Amino acid sequence: MSTTSGSASVWLFLLFGFLQLLKLSGNVEGDALNTLKSNLVDPNNVLQSWDPTLFDPCTWFHVTCNSENSVTRVDLGNANLSGQLVSQLGVLSNLQYLELFNNNITGTIPAELGTLTNLVSLDLYLNSLHGTIPDTLGKLEKLRDLRLNNNTLTGNIPMALTKIQSLQVL
Ligand SMILES: *[C@@H]1O[C@H](CO)[C@@H](O)[C@H](O)[C@H]1NC(C)=O
Ligand SMILES: *[C@@H]1O[C@H](CO)[C@@H](O)[C@H](O)[C@H]1NC(C)=O
Ligand SMILES: *[C@@H]1O[C@H](CO)[C@@H](O)[C@H](O)[C@H]1NC(C)=O
Repeated sequence: MSTTSGSASVWLFLLFGFLQLLKLSGNVEGDALNTLKSNLVDPNNVLQSWDPTLFDPCTWFHVTCNSENSVTRVDLGNANLSGQLVSQLGVLSNLQYLELFNNNITGTIPAELGTLTNLVSLDLYLNSLHGTIPDTLGKLEKLRDLRLNNNTLTGNIPMALTKIQSLQVL
């Protein structure tokens, strides 16, 4: 065998390793949404286009991204979804709209939603969420609409939330 084919196979080996690495590193936001998908029951297959093998989630239905391919909207109102929310949603740092109203979602509101500092609208009304409204939501200074009505939430509206000037709570 010649040295040329030897170095070619070294290059191929390196290229293959690099591609594997890319695949493994994946997309943090896509991974978070895929974790959400795996925690939801979706009888109407509205999440069918959420293919985790795609490079990013920007071509998935009900997901909108900005020009940097970072997720800004998740629109899943009236989708007949059940199951639970996941703490991983907290990694969607550019998310502005999280619309999950009128489903059958159970469990609690993850405190990690308080890391979504660009959130403008959080619509979780008409679900079966229980527990308290996390204090961490008080950190969402850009929040304008927070609709949590028609769930079985207990406790008070956290004081931190009353400090957000622009907020309309229903
Ligand atoms: C909630 O689930 C029930 C029973 O599975 C179903 O009849 C109802 O349409 C669902 N509600 C929503 C808003 O999806
Ligand atoms: C909602 O999902 C439930 C099962 O979880 C199903 O029985 C019901 O028919 C669905 N409703 C609609 C409007 O698709
Ligand atoms: C939402 O809650 C209000 C007040 O408890 C109730 O009157 C209304 O029927 C509920 N809406 C739905 C669609 O469940």
